[in-house]
Amino acid sequence: MANLTYSIVQAAAAEVETPLLVLPHFEGERAPVGAAAEVDSRLGGAIARVLERGDFKGKRDEALVLYPRDGEVAAERVLLVGLGKRDDYTMERLRRAVGTAVRQAERLGAPAVALSLAFQEGVRGDPGFRSAGRAAAEAAVLAAWDFREFKTQQDGAAPAGVASLVLIARDGAEAEELERGAHFGAVVARGENLARELASRPGNVATPTHLAEVAERIAGAHGLGITVLDREGMRKEGMGALLAVAQGTEEEPRFIVLEYKGADSAEGPLVLVGKGITFDSGGISIKPAERMEDMKFDMSGAAAVLGAVQAIAELKLPVHLVALIPSTENLPSGRSMKPGDIIRSHLGKTIEIVNTDAEGRLILADALSYARRYRPRAILDAATLTGACVIALGHHAIGLMGNDDALVEEVRSAGERAGERCWPLPLWDDYRPQIDSTFADLKNTGGRPAGTITAGLFLKEFVGDVPWAHLDIAGTAYRDEAAPYLRKGATGAPTRLFVEWVRGRSER
Ligand code: BES
Ligand code: MN
Ligand code: ZN
Repeated sequence: MANLTYSIVQAAAAEVETPLLVLPHFEGERAPVGAAAEVDSRLGGAIARVLERGDFKGKRDEALVLYPRDGEVAAERVLLVGLGKRDDYTMERLRRAVGTAVRQAERLGAPAVALSLAFQEGVRGDPGFRSAGRAAAEAAVLAAWDFREFKTQQDGAAPAGVASLVLIARDGAEAEELERGAHFGAVVARGENLARELASRPGNVATPTHLAEVAERIAGAHGLGITVLDREGMRKEGMGALLAVAQGTEEEPRFIVLEYKGADSAEGPLVLVGKGITFDSGGISIKPAERMEDMKFDMSGAAAVLGAVQAIAELKLPVHLVALIPSTENLPSGRSMKPGDIIRSHLGKTIEIVNTDAEGRLILADALSYARRYRPRAILDAATLTGACVIALGHHAIGLMGNDDALVEEVRSAGERAGERCWPLPLWDDYRPQIDSTFADLKNTGGRPAGTITAGLFLKEFVGDVPWAHLDIAGTAYRDEAAPYLRKGATGAPTRLFVEWVRGRSER
């Protein structure tokens, strides 16, 4: 589906011709603020009366439609959306409100929404129009997106799409800030929608070869360097761990390297790594049939890396960035790796395979070790790595680990700003004996206790002394229930976090 587009108009809110004029409101406040005050007087106090009655309270995600009489305002409908309490206001609250507005627009068959951000003036730590423009555009582009590639009937059940967002500015300075923010937000959200599209595509379509083709397209569009290794190339590189996972499938594996040089790199590049298992059956240690179809999402880390690289290149961020994607299926066959097998990784460390379903850490091990040749400033990886992470943090936080406290805090704070929150887990030595092997240097699982941490400790063995952080996105890469600005299915996380982290680094 085509992405929603945005535009900026300089006008009084009451004069904007739109099928749906959106007026956000803080919970519990009796008086309309910002554009709502002006619109209210044109509506003869209709908004004030609704607030007085308490029929609309401004609670988070609440919405109410009002119908102006002819000529009162230029909009066909006015939508009040709740922001929650004024003191709790964040860009995430704004994203939610915009998501709610887009859903209401769909329900009403309105193809466009217009929004004034003047309401946020005077809130504690006023985020300003650039940040708000960014958050609003991000949320609208994400909320409007839908995956309908395999629906042969385009009408009927499909909700009417919202195609555009209009941001209302009161003067030229405001318009300029909104434009800069909205441009950034729309580019990032289109990157995230690319990630959602790739993750949503089934395993028979989104193969490693397909991911490589998408990478080629991004590289071609933005002049990036690209290298793609096939099985033979991996053999020459000595990627024994990636090859061990790939040996069980006839589908061609790929190792994808993208390089974006937006700045000279005296300090070495930033490196993003994404797990690209295009279908995870578990291999010989096969998974139960129930919900195995969800394992097409096991390349969500790779998808987010591609989405982020597209956005970073399109934004021309001044940074040197390398992206690495190890990609294969994990299937059982007569050629598959077996429990007890011992393999030699790219780094040279030997690994005893205890469970063939712990395949993500194997392919990442070779990618992390490959990254060391760039002498990176920092490495950040994302992977749908452990079911244990879903048990620990559920669907509301990414598991965050690393070998450098400052980097871990930097990534946590980027996630907070981006609306893709992470929570740290410790990589203490105390857990390390769980992955000791009797026969090899390491084994690939550490048993049930602290399964997310022992997976993180396994990865840590392959990064050496490069500052590195790891994101376990098993609980956040896709959702069974819709959120205000994300439908159910692939979320695209952590595309926004990646871009926000890189943006923070590129301004140093
Ligand atoms: N891709 C899975 C992890 C996963 C599980 C992601 C559920 C999303 C939802 C990963 O490859 C895996 O199978 N991990 C095993 C590791 C275990 C064998 C040590 C797991 O979590 O069960
Ligand atoms: Mn697995
Ligand atoms: Zn997996």
